[in-house]
Amino acid sequence: MVNTLPQSTPKQPKAGIKEPSQETILTPRFYTTDFETAANLDLSAQETELTAMLEEMRADYNRHHFVRDEAFEQSWEHIGGESRRAFIEYLERSCISEFSGFLLFKELSRKLKGRSPLLAEIFQLMARDEARHAGFLNKAMGDFKVSLDLATVTKTRTYTFFPIEWVIYTVYLSEKIGYWRYIIIYRHLQKHPENQFYPIFRKFESWCQDENRHGDIFKALLRSQPQLWKTWKARLWSRFFLLSVFATHTLTVHERASFYDSLGLEATEFDRQVVRNTNETAGRAFPVMLNTEHPKFFPRLQRCSGYNLKISEIERSSGPKLVKLIRKLPLIAAIVWNLLLLYLIEPIDTEALRETVR
Ligand SMILES: [Fe+2]
Ligand SMILES: [Fe+2]
Repeated sequence: MVNTLPQSTPKQPKAGIKEPSQETILTPRFYTTDFETAANLDLSAQETELTAMLEEMRADYNRHHFVRDEAFEQSWEHIGGESRRAFIEYLERSCISEFSGFLLFKELSRKLKGRSPLLAEIFQLMARDEARHAGFLNKAMGDFKVSLDLATVTKTRTYTFFPIEWVIYTVYLSEKIGYWRYIIIYRHLQKHPENQFYPIFRKFESWCQDENRHGDIFKALLRSQPQLWKTWKARLWSRFFLLSVFATHTLTVHERASFYDSLGLEATEFDRQVVRNTNETAGRAFPVMLNTEHPKFFPRLQRCSGYNLKISEIERSSGPKLVKLIRKLPLIAAIVWNLLLLYLIEPIDTEALRETVR
């Protein structure tokens, strides 16, 4: 963990400004990277693809999309209790994660300006999209009388240093998993309009196309760097990042099952659909994908989620910190053990699949 920005002293929150939820291993992270290496990436192998993606980004298909139409102009006080709490938490997490993308892309664009003009402009346009997404979510939070002070969040959040290679793997996955999360909710609500309790979900179809494009840009970046897919190390890293993203997803979706309930979605089913689809998509960029059809794959992830829920229960309970820690340790060990066993499940070699198709 590296702090690149000064920590400001905590102030009393202003009225209507929500204190961001506590950072945990599962909350969206803010990243910083090695900008020098990023500026020197040789993009020649994917230059055509990246130039085409830049044209798409310039076209800005969604410039009129993020408008709060009349559907938003009403009181939302009828959404109360657990549904309200769970929805606000969903909005907050999504807002932080979009905003984290904005900060990283903006910084990359700034640092690469004049050195890698193609990437600098692409990152600037991606930052434009993520700023829109984060702003739209924050306004939605405002409908529930809370919002995030993003300027303060920028200054007080912990920034994690990731080498540019890790950034490429993780941002690729978070864009693609973001795409699937948005589109699956959208399609479900198309079929079950009675569960559409707030108009933001109607925006998800075009919204997820932004994430899909961002993912495609990162795919081109990944494929431009042979060390990210051609080597045995790349295979091990790919497995690692796929599993970390899927495990985080499973754990957070089950922590927030009541939100999915309010949409008429079953958390476990939603989670599996997102993981399966993201894994398939990632297979087009990564040298391996995980074997989600292995009989132990989802049961083990589910077990991790169960342990995680027990940990949260212990955290909420009263009692001395040390006692809580002692109660949590075997559960943490069980999660780590199951993740290790998941990691060891033989993955699917997507490069070999590509060869066969050719
Ligand atoms: Fe976004
Ligand atoms: Fe994105």
